Amino acid sequence: MNVLQKVLTLPTETRTGLGAAREMLNVCAPFGGRGMLVCGQSLQQSGKLDVMRGAVTDDIDVRVWAHPGGEPTLEQLETLRSAARAYAPDWIAAVGGGSVIDIAKAGAGLLYAPQQAQAYHDGASIPPSSVPFVVAPTTAGTGSEATIVSVLTNSDTGVKKSIRHPSFMARLVLLDPDLLDGCPDAVVAASGMDALTQAIESYCSAGASWITDRLALKATALIHGSLEAVFSGDAAKRGDLLTGSYLAGIALSNARLGIVHGLAHPLGARFHVPHGLACAVCLPRALAFNRDAIPEKYAKLSETVGMDIQDYAQAMLTRLRLQSPFAGESLEDKEALIAETLASGSTKANPREVTGDDVEMLLQRLFAPSHAAPENCT
Ligand SMILES: [Fe+2]
Repeated sequence: MNVLQKVLTLPTETRTGLGAAREMLNVCAPFGGRGMLVCGQSLQQSGKLDVMRGAVTDDIDVRVWAHPGGEPTLEQLETLRSAARAYAPDWIAAVGGGSVIDIAKAGAGLLYAPQQAQAYHDGASIPPSSVPFVVAPTTAGTGSEATIVSVLTNSDTGVKKSIRHPSFMARLVLLDPDLLDGCPDAVVAASGMDALTQAIESYCSAGASWITDRLALKATALIHGSLEAVFSGDAAKRGDLLTGSYLAGIALSNARLGIVHGLAHPLGARFHVPHGLACAVCLPRALAFNRDAIPEKYAKLSETVGMDIQDYAQAMLTRLRLQSPFAGESLEDKEALIAETLASGSTKANPREVTGDDVEMLLQRLFAPSHAAPENCT
């Protein structure tokens, strides 16, 4: 990436507050009378989907496409694209966690793109999309509601990586803390640590700018002040966590990330672990690796959380009862994983240059039988 040019791409409109999502489908009316709503099974089971559909006025026709679950694949995306092309919606909306948002975003972004999704996943140039994308997250979160990025997995090759285009950015975002109600503790913990990682990595990124720095630090402060409370059942803090996740999403979409996400995608694809958990256990190791490259930023992050930022990231694993899924496991295709990590745009934005030997060292420590606190590796 050209780190000298700074571009800030934002959602066109963002509405916040309790109940903001209830009228979502009617708020989409200016985009047209035909909408496709992409959601997960939990929205249907919780009754929230019925509430949203029940509020729709007669002049809006909404077709629901339920994401089958798991992290989104190219195959699932083609199924969504076929259904959407047959219906020809004026807009596509997502209500769900990161997987639902990512597949709906790619569905809107690639709705009328001429090639199969795999071609774009393999690097083909993405044509701009004019299909409005609307989103309300139900986790806090991946921050995907605020990014131009969709992370997809090719099931045939196992390669998990992102596609991106400025026209993927949402035209409307609804941040409604009510939608976090019922989110399981393990999801709160993992997705919250994804948000924290994204705030920290975008702040430390080689692509950071003065404005992403401010957004990322504010995100770090909001997540630090709310994640443990929400994990413990404090509903009053959900708004802060949702806002922190959203701000981290804007920051990462414009500044990019770092070695944690460079590792987390290929590791997550191989071990089928939640993305946020993979990020959470990689974060202390990566902070140790980067520490000496950007001492001022480390000091600022440590000031924000009230303790050394690396110690904080390690402590959060215990506080949120997150255990490493990698410790003691064996890695079958280390060379391929190292190559995928080095090819990642996230790795390329890491504040310290990353070599193959560096990735191997980080993997050795991640896969060591006991997941001891990381050393200050240099
Ligand atoms: Fe992430």
